[in-house]
Amino acid sequence: MPKPLSKLEKLTHPLFDKYRVNVSIKRDDQLHQVISGNKWRKLKYNLRQATQDSFQGALTFGGSYSNHIHAFAYACKQKNIPCIGIIRGESHYADNFTLSWARHWGMQCHFVDRKTYRRRFDSDYLEELQQLYPNYFIIPEGGSNSLAVAGVAEVLTELNQQTEFDTLLTPVGSGGTLAGLIAGDNIPKNNQHKIVGIAVLKQGEYLLNEIKALIQSHTFDQTHTSIHKQHNNWQLLTEFHRGGYGKFSDNDAQRIIAFNQETGITFEPVYSGKMILALLDLLEQGYFKPGERIVLLHTGGLQGLGGLLEQGRLNPEDWPTPISIITP
Ligand SMILES: Cc1ncc(COP(=O)(O)O)c(C=O)c1O
Repeated sequence: MPKPLSKLEKLTHPLFDKYRVNVSIKRDDQLHQVISGNKWRKLKYNLRQATQDSFQGALTFGGSYSNHIHAFAYACKQKNIPCIGIIRGESHYADNFTLSWARHWGMQCHFVDRKTYRRRFDSDYLEELQQLYPNYFIIPEGGSNSLAVAGVAEVLTELNQQTEFDTLLTPVGSGGTLAGLIAGDNIPKNNQHKIVGIAVLKQGEYLLNEIKALIQSHTFDQTHTSIHKQHNNWQLLTEFHRGGYGKFSDNDAQRIIAFNQETGITFEPVYSGKMILALLDLLEQGYFKPGERIVLLHTGGLQGLGGLLEQGRLNPEDWPTPISIITP
């Protein structure tokens, strides 16, 4: 069995003592300086496919501060794959922190308005793009497809070697990461752990169907049959979005800063920080049993701090500058 790629660290915090829970963190943020966290896991088989099937290039979708776009651009540069980003927003975003790096690494950015961006899953729009970019491998927003699920599922294979635990927590955007963790929990025994996703966007209930479809697509790929096992050991919590995607209050930011200082690990306020705030709230609400062994998945995304600092939404004295803060 391959060795775990990221460390599992124990976390200490006064609230963990108070509620007598045991918390550790899977440091996927340390997988790579740029392709961090779930991006690394989700892109692994996608980019393998893009090279193996001798596509001419790869294309994906994302917002103008997207972690996925940032990681995808770097990963494609590493593998010498020409890459295109269909970006939601106006072209003046081209010089922001995230996109100036993506372009620096060779991504061709195509800006589309919100209406067009909404068509990103429509087969006729995908067909149009495919005609425009023949032979490009098209990867959905956030990288979330069955290949991403297969990559994320490996987190469970690693965790099963590293520890015994009851509950695994992850932030949720498009649902691919949560789907991968649920799919991966079939190894070696079905329904072993409770897997809890924290939706970082408003009205995240619609993600339930997306997540179920992603789990099924993975099972289908593995068995080539549409008969799939029941996965009922998971939950998507939708009330911890803090006002919506990318939104957070000063108080939310202060609580994340305090947690970062207490643990010595950086969580940012768009994804991993919302998972931390949910964890703290769930503890106070008595959601976890005394003695419960909780694992948090650090999904990376610290490049996002670059955009937030650049927009003046965070105080630079309270946050570390991300690795590639110097504008290229
Ligand atoms: C840092 C980070 N964490 C978590 C997520 C959520 O992952 P998913 O889109 O697979 O739900 C994302 C991306 O969307 C992300 O960039």
